[in-house]
Amino acid sequence: MNSISRRSLLLAGGAIAAASACPGAVRALVTTAGIPVKLRTGEAEALLSGPKHAATRTWGFNATIPGPVLRIKQGAPFEAEVTNGLAEPTTVHWHGLRIPVGMDGVPFYSQPPIKPGETFRYAFTPPDAGTYWYHPHFNSAEQVGRGLSGALIVEEAEPVKVDRELVWVLDDWRLDKEEQIAGPFTARHDLVHAGRLGNVATINGTSPGSIAVRAGERLRLRLINAANARFFALKFEGHAPQVIALDGQPCVPHAAPGGRVVLAPAQRVDVILDCSGKPGARHTIEDGYYARQTYALTELAYSDTAPVRENPLDAPIRLPANPVPAPDPGAATRHDIVFEGGAMRGFPSGGGTVGEGGKRLDMRELVRAGVFWTINQQASPPGEIGKTPVLATLKRGESTVLKMVNKTAFAHPMHLHGHHFRVLTRNGAPVPHNQLRDTAIVSPDETVEVAFVADNPGQWMFHCHVFEHQISGMMGIIRVA
Ligand code: C2O
Ligand code: CU
Repeated sequence: MNSISRRSLLLAGGAIAAASACPGAVRALVTTAGIPVKLRTGEAEALLSGPKHAATRTWGFNATIPGPVLRIKQGAPFEAEVTNGLAEPTTVHWHGLRIPVGMDGVPFYSQPPIKPGETFRYAFTPPDAGTYWYHPHFNSAEQVGRGLSGALIVEEAEPVKVDRELVWVLDDWRLDKEEQIAGPFTARHDLVHAGRLGNVATINGTSPGSIAVRAGERLRLRLINAANARFFALKFEGHAPQVIALDGQPCVPHAAPGGRVVLAPAQRVDVILDCSGKPGARHTIEDGYYARQTYALTELAYSDTAPVRENPLDAPIRLPANPVPAPDPGAATRHDIVFEGGAMRGFPSGGGTVGEGGKRLDMRELVRAGVFWTINQQASPPGEIGKTPVLATLKRGESTVLKMVNKTAFAHPMHLHGHHFRVLTRNGAPVPHNQLRDTAIVSPDETVEVAFVADNPGQWMFHCHVFEHQISGMMGIIRVA
């Protein structure tokens, strides 16, 4: 039995011990102007299944899982010195930040990979406030899968009025009985299906039995999904979370649809959680994304102390907008982006090309080359960096609509670097709440239209953030010239 189901049974039986310390206790590095933050990739250990289990040998930034929370200021220069303590090259991608391509951390397109023992200095000014994250963009399935990721918080000029803010990096691990990372990162079954799904889900690198809260508190939860493949759909029993930002960008505040806060890999959601329970109460936080696999991720454990306030607060704060240019869908150039491949649909049955200028291969030849997914019948070569096909070339400043059509049997969180796009429609129906995202779920047989202003020059990666799909073809370049 996997730990995800084991833990849910424990919770159902009331066997969880007293409230553990708040897992929000990740070391934070508050940045100071002119002094670079120092990050070092290397080996680390983590109590992923909780303090009663053996530690797992992992890879981490500054030997912590997740890496330190970086808190930086909107519009203020930021510098990070990354030293590579791994035995293989790496880079750091600042996921969701609209910064110059040279600082985006994509090997060869942004910078040479950082060799073992070398240091690279990143320097940029984040234009947008919000919840972002950082992770390597080299051998990502393994490097991120072994634990190299961390939260990157760009603070608003005016702090938002809440009682407490919690940053939760959600992750998912495939562990063996000794609590060690199990199996290869490129198992063919994972590549052709839903990616490398694990058996232990963590919040900030551990399995917290409970999260201590006080009645009447207003929390800002910054949720980040750092998993390779697992989607989360969190239900806060007895509570009504209000969504205030998606992928870092403020939206129209709204109740989580169906009470479920959904996060695909790489997505972030900021929610306002009013702690409306009674002193001493316990409420489960359940993850029910996959049918028949609902489990208790953790629970809210209310202290016995008197409520922080008697009357509930008014509607949640609307965050100030970031300076993301508004696209003009009427005047936009349009590009169709079609996903094919994977199990249950005969792999890329239409065939395709691999790499820039590659010759056309049929389905069997693609599979032999390790390609199981295509975008517009083009694939990024597995294991090769620097030969990613260009899917579209956009003029700098032009409004663009991407119409993504998913002909596969799997959901794909599609991520565009260097820009945020507005999610316009799903299967033709308008998407509410002004959703600006850098990563959008495209469900099986779904068509999703997004629009953005191509204002950031460079060659930008556009890929599925299920790393097992990305490394088996599902990546291309959107060029802004
Ligand atoms: Cu979060 Cu191309 O990555
Ligand atoms: Cu995918």
